[in-house]
Amino acid sequence: MSIRYILVFVLGVCSIGLFAQKAVYLDVYKPIEERVEDALQRMTIEEKVAMLHAQSKFSSAGVPRLGIPDNWATDGPHGIRSEALWDEWDDAKWTNDSCIAFPALTCLAATWNPQMAALYGKSIGEEARYRNKNILLGPGVNMYRTPLNGRNFEYMGEDPFLASRMVVPYVQEVQKNGVAACVKHFALNNQEVQRWDVDVVVDNRALHEIYLPAFKAAVTEGGAWAIMGAYNKYKGQHCCHNQYLLNDILKNEWKFDGVVVSDWGGTHDTWESVHNGLDMEFGTWTDGLGAGASNAYANYFLSDSYLQLLKEGKVGQEELNDKVRRILRMVFRTTMVKKRPFGSFGTVEHALVGRKVAEEGIVLLQNRNILPVDLVKVKKILVVGDNAVRRMTIGGGSSALKAKYEVSPLQGILKRVADLAEVNYVVGYEAPPYGVKETKVDRAPLRKQAVEAAKEADVVFFIGGLNKNGNQDCEGDDRRSYHLPYEQDQLIEELVTVNPNVVVVIISGNAVAMPWVNKVPAVLEAWYGGTEGGNALASILFGDVNPSGKLPFTIPVKLEDCPAHAFDERTYPGDGKSVVYSESIFTGYRWADKLKKVKPLFAFGHGLSYTTFQYDNFRANKRILNDGQTITFSVKVKNTGLREGKEVVQLYISDKKSSLPRPVKELKGFVKVALKPGEEKDVTITIGKEELSYFNDVNHEWVAEPGKFEAIIAASAIEIKGKLDFELR
Ligand code: GLC
Repeated sequence: MSIRYILVFVLGVCSIGLFAQKAVYLDVYKPIEERVEDALQRMTIEEKVAMLHAQSKFSSAGVPRLGIPDNWATDGPHGIRSEALWDEWDDAKWTNDSCIAFPALTCLAATWNPQMAALYGKSIGEEARYRNKNILLGPGVNMYRTPLNGRNFEYMGEDPFLASRMVVPYVQEVQKNGVAACVKHFALNNQEVQRWDVDVVVDNRALHEIYLPAFKAAVTEGGAWAIMGAYNKYKGQHCCHNQYLLNDILKNEWKFDGVVVSDWGGTHDTWESVHNGLDMEFGTWTDGLGAGASNAYANYFLSDSYLQLLKEGKVGQEELNDKVRRILRMVFRTTMVKKRPFGSFGTVEHALVGRKVAEEGIVLLQNRNILPVDLVKVKKILVVGDNAVRRMTIGGGSSALKAKYEVSPLQGILKRVADLAEVNYVVGYEAPPYGVKETKVDRAPLRKQAVEAAKEADVVFFIGGLNKNGNQDCEGDDRRSYHLPYEQDQLIEELVTVNPNVVVVIISGNAVAMPWVNKVPAVLEAWYGGTEGGNALASILFGDVNPSGKLPFTIPVKLEDCPAHAFDERTYPGDGKSVVYSESIFTGYRWADKLKKVKPLFAFGHGLSYTTFQYDNFRANKRILNDGQTITFSVKVKNTGLREGKEVVQLYISDKKSSLPRPVKELKGFVKVALKPGEEKDVTITIGKEELSYFNDVNHEWVAEPGKFEAIIAASAIEIKGKLDFELR
C-alpha cells in the first residue's frame, strides 16, 4: 500500500479518534456521568435555561446544535394519552394514537401481586416508547386518606407497604423501555379540594411512616428517573419548589439523581424554583388568566426571568448546572440510551395484560352462594345500571384516554353468555354523560321499569358505582357524598323487593356506602377495568376466573368512621388555607384498630374466593431476633375447596411496647400463592429490623426498639389466622 494511502488512513483514524474523543456525550458506551459532563460544558447558558421549561404543552427543549433531542412527557398512569395540540389541552386528533387502556391503579394494587405490577409497567412502558415519549407522567402513589378524594382511582390504596411493593416493579419495567417513570404527586396530594394551594399540616411521623414510603421505594428501590411535584403546599411552600421535600428529603437524604418535574401549573416563583429543587417547569399559566390556552414560555419562572438573574450575576450557575445535569442524565437514560428498545402500541398482548390485571384485581366482597353464576341453571339474566354500558376510559381528568376499544360490562356479559341464556338490559338510573352537569331528574320511571324487568329474571346484575364525572372519581374536585349518586341505593332496595338474586357490581376507584349490603347475596368491587374490563368482569361472574383481589383500602360503614372525617372541617377538607391531618399515623385500618369499636364494612386486605383456604402451623425460625438478623415466618396454606384459586397471605407486625404511640399492627409482608384443589404450600415471609421500625421524629431516624413484638398472619386486616410473639434484642 503506498505511503499516500497509509497517510490518509492514519489521518482518518486520528480525526475519528479526535472527534470521538471530542464527542464523549454522543458515545453510548461511555459512562453516563462522563457524557453528562461533556455535554454540559458544551452548552451555552441560553441552551441550559431552555432545557428547564416547557416549549409546548408536553415537551421541553433539547439542544438541536448538539443533537440532543427534545424531552416529551405523556400522561398517564393507566395508558398513553392521545396527542395534544402543540400548545393546547385539546386533542390533535391523530389517527394512530388510540392506546390500550390499562386498569386503574387501585385495581392494580388490589391484585396484591408485584408480578402484575411488573407486567403493567412493561406494557405501558412499551406503549410510551412506541409513541416516542421519554417521560411517563405516572404512576401515582399518594395515600388514600379519604374516600371522597377524586383521584384515589389513580393511586394504590391506603397502606404504604402495599403501595411500596407495587410501585417498584412498575417503575423498573417502565424504565427498561428507555422511558422515565415520573412518580407523582410528591407529596401529600390526598385531596382535590383546594389542590392548587392547600397547605398540608401533618406531623413528621405520619409524613415519613405513611405519606413518603411509596415515593421513597420508587426512588431508592425502583430507581425512578423522575418525580412530579404536587400542587399543594407543605410547610407553607408549594411542593413543586419545596426545600424540605425536594432538597432535604428527596435529593439529599434519598440521593435522588433524577429530574423533579412540576405539575402542570404547579410553579409559582422563580427564586424558590431555582433554589428549592425544581428542575423542569411545565404548564405554567404565567398570563394569570387561568388554565393556559396559550402559554408564553418566555414568561415561565425558569425562563427569561431566571436567565436574567444569571446574566446579572444575581444567582450563580451551580443550581442551573445541577438541573441540567439531571435532565441530561435522563436524556442519556432514555432518548440517547444504548440499545433503545422500539416499544409496541395498542397490541393484543397489552390488552391481555390489562385483562389479566383486571381479573386479578376484582374483589369479591360478599357472596352468599350465588356466584359464580351457573349458566346451566340460570336462563334469564337482567343487567341493570348505567355503569354496565358507560365508557370509563374517558373523563376523570388527565388520566383520560383515547382507548383503541373498551369492552363494557354489558358487552362482556353478552359475549360470555352468548346463546346460553337470555340477557336483557335496562339502565335503571340516569347519569349525565361525562362533562354534563347533573340536573334534578325524576328517576322513578326508570326504577319502575327496572323493577318490572327484575321480576322475570333468574339473576339480576346491578352494575353501578361512581363514574369519571366531576365530583366523582375525577381530578380537580372531590366527591360531595360517601353515598352512591343518582339514587342507586333506592334502586337496589327496590330491586331486592322483587328479586332476591341481585348481584351488585360496584365500578369505582373509591369506597362507597352500602346501606343495602345485608339485603343482597353478592357484592363485587370491579374498579375501572380499562380496555378489557367488561371481559374480565364476565370471567369472574361466570367463574372462568376465580377472584383473588383484595381491598387496597378500608370500606367504612359510614364516612364518620374514616379518620379524616372523625374530627372537624380542618381535618377535611380544611379551612380554605390549610388542612390538618389530625389522625396522624392512624390512617385506614390503623384507625379502625385504634378505635376498636369501629368495625369496617369490608376490611383492608379483604377479598373472597370461589374456593376456601386453610392456614396451619404458623411458625418462625427463631423467637429472639438479634440486631442485624432477619426472622422468617412460615405458614401452611391449603386449598380446601373444589377449584383452583389464589390467596394473599398477609403478615402484620405489632410492637407490643414502644416509647412512642404506634398502630396496633401494620402490614409488613404479603405473598400471593396459587393453589390447586387440595394443594398445600408453605408460604414464607422474611423480615428484618426495617420492618420493625418506626420513625423517631425527634432524632429524625428510623428506630426498631428492642422488646416484644407480635407477628400476625392474616387473610385481611381483621381475618386473623395466627399470632406469634417474638423479641428483638
Ligand atoms: C394534571 C395532573 C397531573 C398530570 C398533569 C399533566 O393537572 O395533576 O397528574 O400529569 O397535569 O396533564
